[in-house]
This record gives sequence, C-alpha cells and structure tokens, in this order.
Amino acid sequence: MTREWHRIGLLTDIPRRGARCVTSPFGRIAVFRTADDEIFATEDRCPHRGGPLSQGIVHDASVTCPLHNAVIELATGFMQGPEGGRVRVFATRVDPLTRVIELSLAEAAGVPEAAE
Ligand code: FES
Repeated sequence: MTREWHRIGLLTDIPRRGARCVTSPFGRIAVFRTADDEIFATEDRCPHRGGPLSQGIVHDASVTCPLHNAVIELATGFMQGPEGGRVRVFATRVDPLTRVIELSLAEAAGVPEAAE
C-alpha cells in the first residue's frame, strides 16, 4: 500500500525549536521543528497525563512536556525515565526545493510503509 502524504505548510511556518498543531482523525498532532531544521510529528498528548507537547520546549530531537517536565524523544515517541510511556509518531518529510512539509498518517493506522 502506498503511503499518503498531506501538505501541512512550509518549514518556515514553524519557528526553530517550536511547534505547530494540525488536526487529524487521530486528534491533534504536534509538528516540531528542531534547531537543525529536522521535522517530527507526534500526538499532541503527553503519555504521562496528557499535557500539550506542542507547548513544550524543543531541545535537540526531544521535547520537554510543559506540565511535569517529562522528556519525549521525537523520533520514537518514547518518554525517558522509569515511568516509560510512548506517544504515537507520524512520518514527515520536507521537499528540498519548496520546503513544504508533508505528513503521513499511515503509521498511526498501523499501515507499514511501502517499499519505494
Ligand atoms: S503531562 Fe507531561 S509530564 Fe505530566
């Protein structure tokens, strides 16, 4: 099955070390931009008690939840520390010419990525 990509805006629409939210059938998705212009997307819901990760502090390739300071790895969705937990992670890509960010919901639905 082919992965379906959705255009969600330009790289420059998100400040470095910031985030924006998009709505989806799976709820709000937080799209993060790191200082190195990497883009990650996760559920906008902390695995601890549901804090809005899009309002957290982005550092390296992680975000610190604004409610109780849990650190979530953006590439995997895993929460660091003994409590564990994980948020759903969505695939993203950025067109190198247009700088348009695209998001895929395929991982959230449990559909494996097709070989290209
Ligand atoms: S809700 Fe995120 S650390 Fe508690």
